[in-house]
Amino acid sequence: MKAFAVRELTHPSNIQLTADLPEPTLKEGEVMVDVYAAGLNYYDILQAQGKYQIQPPLPFALGSEFAGRIAEGYPIPPGAPYKPGDRVFGMAPGCYTERVAVNIGQILRIPDNLSFEQAAGMYITWPTSYEALVGRAELKPGEFVLVTAAAGGVGMAAVQLAKGLGAKVIGAAGSQAKLDIVKKFGGADYVVDYTKKGWQQEVLKITNGKGVNVIYDPVGMITDCLKCIAWKGRAIVVGFAAGTIEKVPMNLVLLKNIAIVGIFWGGYAVREPEHMPGVYQTLLDLLTSGRVATPVVYDKIYSLETIAEGLQALENRKTWGKAIVRIREDTKQASKAKL
Ligand SMILES: NC(=O)c1ccc[n+]([C@@H]2O[C@H](COP(=O)([O-])OP(=O)(O)OC[C@H]3O[C@@H](n4cnc5c(N)ncnc54)[C@H](OP(=O)(O)O)[C@@H]3O)[C@@H](O)[C@H]2O)c1
Repeated sequence: MKAFAVRELTHPSNIQLTADLPEPTLKEGEVMVDVYAAGLNYYDILQAQGKYQIQPPLPFALGSEFAGRIAEGYPIPPGAPYKPGDRVFGMAPGCYTERVAVNIGQILRIPDNLSFEQAAGMYITWPTSYEALVGRAELKPGEFVLVTAAAGGVGMAAVQLAKGLGAKVIGAAGSQAKLDIVKKFGGADYVVDYTKKGWQQEVLKITNGKGVNVIYDPVGMITDCLKCIAWKGRAIVVGFAAGTIEKVPMNLVLLKNIAIVGIFWGGYAVREPEHMPGVYQTLLDLLTSGRVATPVVYDKIYSLETIAEGLQALENRKTWGKAIVRIREDTKQASKAKL
């Protein structure tokens, strides 16, 4: 079976496509899924080089978020609400490959209005942004939210969700092209270029001098953003895309009476698994009802043969929305969705 697999730790640009990865075998509670599409993530680049906190033994296929169909000709665990051909999305380590064995607890049915490519990048990205905004920052309709790296994977989902939840959204990104995308596809009310000196003044002007109620930050620039946070605002630590774990001067937290909260979606699986189904259900309801716009996919779709190129584009900040690899064409054409 074809796979984008790591045989020795190296940068993904040095990895050749493997054609002879053995088919997975099913364990108890697992279903076999034909993979149609998978989401590219920054940590794939780290994992390929041995720099990520989770390192499978060599050799291993990269990839974690996928969408596909329940495969024909394999057993399905008793009581599982799936049949061969059903469209599902979920999480499976090593999904840059043609077929994966997945625990039924880690898949969900793809709504009819989503394509495989849209669903492939959702399983981690979307609940991260939803739980951050609603569970951690307790976002309320009418509040101002500032999203950094707003054109990126988790950032774009945060913009779309905050908008759908009735917030006033300010998307911040690093180029005019990305700002246009954030406005056009994400539906942000305002956009600011955070590479321009003094960009926080623009945010203060938009908010009539009051500042934003919520900051959603996957970059690691909370300190910069606190220049335009409102009294009693909440800042969410989502990630460190800029590569440095930020240290925030605590006097800033005190002076504006603010809260800094973290989000680690993966941690819920271990510490609070009972919380996860409700979040996924709410997300699916928001997406199927049309209250939240469907996921934004980067306009260049990669293939198993060009994954390395896709990961390099991600690393070099060239992508926007969710970068996706298409692994199989959907010949059944059941999806009515458009990218
Ligand atoms: N907490 C959680 O549970 C959770 C879950 C998923 C992801 N994350 C984290 O969230 C972060 C973003 O993930 P993502 O999937 O949205 O990534 P992404 O799609 O690659 O977007 C990251 C964006 O960050 C911006 N950026 C600013 N400075 C950068 C730098 N020095 N190098 C690279 N990018 C820089 C870039 O946008 P501009 O060009 O506009 O500046 C880039 O496009 C990652 O650190 C990831 O690990 C956290």
